[in-house]
Amino acid sequence: MDKYIFSEDFVWGAATSSYQIEGAWNEGGKGLNIWDEFSHTPGKIKNNETGDVACDHFHKFKEDVLLMKQLGLKAYRFSISWARIIPKGNGNINEQGIKFYSDLIDSLLEAGIAPWVTLYHWDLPLTLQLEKDGWLNKDLALDFKNYASVCFEHFGNRVKNWITFNEPWVTAILGYANGVMAPGRKSKSEPYIVAHNQLVAHAMAVEEYRKNFQPSQKGKIGISNNCDWREPNSQNIEDLEAAERALEFFLGWFADPVYFGDYPEVMKTRLGDRLPKFTEVEKKLLKGSSDFFGLNHYTTMYAANFNPETSAPQDVYGNGGISEDQDVELFVDKKWGRTSMGWAIVPWGCRKLLEWIDQRYNHPPIYITENGMSENEELINGKVDDPERILFYQEYLKECKIAIEHGVDLKGYFAWSLFDNFEWALGYEKRFGLIYIDFETLNRIPKESAFWYKKVIENNGF
Ligand code: GAL
Repeated sequence: MDKYIFSEDFVWGAATSSYQIEGAWNEGGKGLNIWDEFSHTPGKIKNNETGDVACDHFHKFKEDVLLMKQLGLKAYRFSISWARIIPKGNGNINEQGIKFYSDLIDSLLEAGIAPWVTLYHWDLPLTLQLEKDGWLNKDLALDFKNYASVCFEHFGNRVKNWITFNEPWVTAILGYANGVMAPGRKSKSEPYIVAHNQLVAHAMAVEEYRKNFQPSQKGKIGISNNCDWREPNSQNIEDLEAAERALEFFLGWFADPVYFGDYPEVMKTRLGDRLPKFTEVEKKLLKGSSDFFGLNHYTTMYAANFNPETSAPQDVYGNGGISEDQDVELFVDKKWGRTSMGWAIVPWGCRKLLEWIDQRYNHPPIYITENGMSENEELINGKVDDPERILFYQEYLKECKIAIEHGVDLKGYFAWSLFDNFEWALGYEKRFGLIYIDFETLNRIPKESAFWYKKVIENNGF
């Protein structure tokens, strides 16, 4: 195949999230969230940077939508900051917050860009953390459902694509196991509780949408999970099983409940009482609770069965979750290229993961809701040349197209990210954007990759 052309209705988009771009952390009636608190705690973020200003998208959104239009984007995925809409997490609604997102949505629609809205991209209202212990508390599911309902009510006449949670795995593992993300807790049992409560919250919000909004608003709702590919290190049964086990602990943890109503058997067996159990009602609510499969994918590792005699000691909170629960040894091929985050660039891993999802979950419609790479680019003579990123997108998109040829129902692709932004604990150094942000002047400069992507969108491929 020398031409990689996608179907006419393929959704070409780019993605961002509220805390990473909005800024205006204490303006417009917004309440505080756990990332405001975390980033203001010395030592948590590289160079103690914060999202206080970030890309200042809150003030510059009109300019930003214009840029998106110039890039020819068909869709824009962004997240709503819960505390901007409901400052304390439940109760009073902040009309200024509603107006901000409402205006953003209107601007997008005027520009011919479909809004894809994520309800939760990690910025939990601080009050819910302090007063209820955050996602460790089951009650948060109800708070989330009520918040979601407010969003459906105010925006659902214009928003036709909803994503409940972005990467609940990250909240569970990075927020509650190794603690590098907010709220910064370290535990071997809490991650499983936090994941469980997010799954129930997802299911309740979907039920709410389907019952009270979907019939009239006619949108779709789903969840976006992240997963790397795990390539078996050999064809030995132990390694094949180890790779499968790693995928079940990573993605099956969240996608099995959504597609089958319960956790993978291997997790139940290995975790025993540390894995909470769904009630029959919750199982029913969860099963089938996504109209599409949202996938965020970045990298690949080899997987081998852990062998205490020969394997390197297990990194307790290694890539892919709590390692000792899985007994999988993970490593990369030194010949693989790396991004500035150190993540291996392995385009074929993306195809294999898409095919794994297609088989395991019975051919669901899939949207890649994030894929991209970080580089530490510089602005030189008014231009940002980023050939590595162009190559990255090209190679990953080729594999997407091959997956489609192999029968995978991949319906869309969102580049992460539209802008350089606040990369969580790593601050501003890691640049993922199609659009360069000068964080001193806040000027926006489309990179060469943005012009390349524009052509891809115009031609439905390359
Ligand atoms: C994802 C996350 C994004 C972004 C990206 C790159 O896990 O959803 O917010 O940070 O990774 O690290």
